This record gives sequence, C-alpha cells and structure tokens, in this order.
Amino acid sequence: MPRDNMASLDPADRPCSMLSWPSPENLSKDEEPVDRGPRRGPRNIAPRKATLQPLPPSLPPVTYMHIYETDGFSLGVFLLKSGTSIPLHDHPGMHGMLKVLYGKVRISCMDKLEASGGQRPRALPPEQQFEPPLQARERDAVRPGVLRSRAEYTEASGPCLLTPHRDNLHQIDAVDGPAAFLDILAPPYDPDDGRDCHYYRVLEPVRPKEAPGSACDLPREVWLLETPQADDFWCEGEPYPGPKVFP
Ligand SMILES: [Fe+2]
Repeated sequence: MPRDNMASLDPADRPCSMLSWPSPENLSKDEEPVDRGPRRGPRNIAPRKATLQPLPPSLPPVTYMHIYETDGFSLGVFLLKSGTSIPLHDHPGMHGMLKVLYGKVRISCMDKLEASGGQRPRALPPEQQFEPPLQARERDAVRPGVLRSRAEYTEASGPCLLTPHRDNLHQIDAVDGPAAFLDILAPPYDPDDGRDCHYYRVLEPVRPKEAPGSACDLPREVWLLETPQADDFWCEGEPYPGPKVFP
C-alpha cells in the first residue's frame, strides 16, 4: 500500500500499527499534555494527565503519532489513554521494537505454533471445551499458540522486541494511567505484500481438574482464535510535535 494513500483509508480499515493522519477534532480533550519539567523522552511528547472519568465513546482509546516511514521500516508513537489496551495482534514477517516513553504498560507476548519439520500443529482435542463455548465453525479455526511472557514496562525499562518467529503477537495494556511508547516495525505493515494485521483472542479452557496456579506458569500453551477488530478499539492519528525526520 503506497504510504501516500493511507490518509484516504477509513480508520476502521487500518491495521493496528499503521498510521492514520491527524484529526484534531478527535484528539482527547480530557488528557491534555501536562508539564512535568525537563522531558526525557523524544522532544515535546509530554506525559498526559490521568483521568478518573470514563473515556467518552466518541474519543479513540489509542492514538498514533506518525513520525517517519520507508519501505524498510515505520517509526511512530502510540499513546494509550487510561485503562485502554491494544488488543492481541500479530506482525507477520516483521521485526519490532517498543520502548515506553512515559507511563506503564503490560505487554503479553505470544506466538502461534506453526507446522514445522513436516509435522502439523497440534489439533484441538474434541473434548476440549472453552468458556464461553465456541460454535462449530469457530472450533475449526482455533490454533495452538504459546504465551511466552507477560511483563510491565516503564520508561526505565529496556525495549520490548519481537521477531517474525518470536514474540510476534502481543497485547499492550495501559497500567495505572495513560502511557506512550515508541514503535518501530521493520518492515512496516503492508497488506499488499502479505503483512496485514490480524487480531486474536486467547480462549479460556474449561479445566475442571487443573492444579491451582498452573495457569500462571509461563511459558504455557494457549488456544488462539482469530477475531475481527474489537468494536471498542480503534486508533486515530494525532500530530507529531517533535522535530522533523529526514531520510
Ligand atoms: Fe504491535
């Protein structure tokens, strides 16, 4: 997809990490930048005030500051409002780096277990049930995966990295207030080149005889179901206030 054409896309059609251009009328008015003295992140991206009010339904839970993009990589900043998440999604054939600029996020990293060495991935056992129950056609689409890690990151943390085969799926939750992170993807999403964004749900298995605490042990196998983009999640653009980036 030519980068110059992205502005013409409906926001609902944009993959989760693709840019959407500024729409000032949709900027969050309840989370204005707050001055906290010298800034340690990229210039002019200031931490935003946490709010106790529920997010008005007309405002996007997540916004994206596009900084720069080439055929080789995309560079931007995601801003999550208090209590919001970027749902579980993938980055097919891509490398990525996330670095928190302010606030705290919890990142859950997963992978789909694909066929390897001529072996098919584990099939869903017929006796395996989930809560809530799945329809027959949904059961056919369930795929095995592995939840590798779940960790919290702040601006003091190192980056969170992903590769085409390791930690390629992730969910990102804002913890204890708004948060922002720098996002670099290489190469960028490009549906025309097989790099579209897919969303997933981790299914909750019914485990009547499960040992206490075993579900918390990581890494652990999970069952994944590809889903449409959630109705309550969308991402819109806002202007990047920092210095212009040149090739
Ligand atoms: Fe992502």
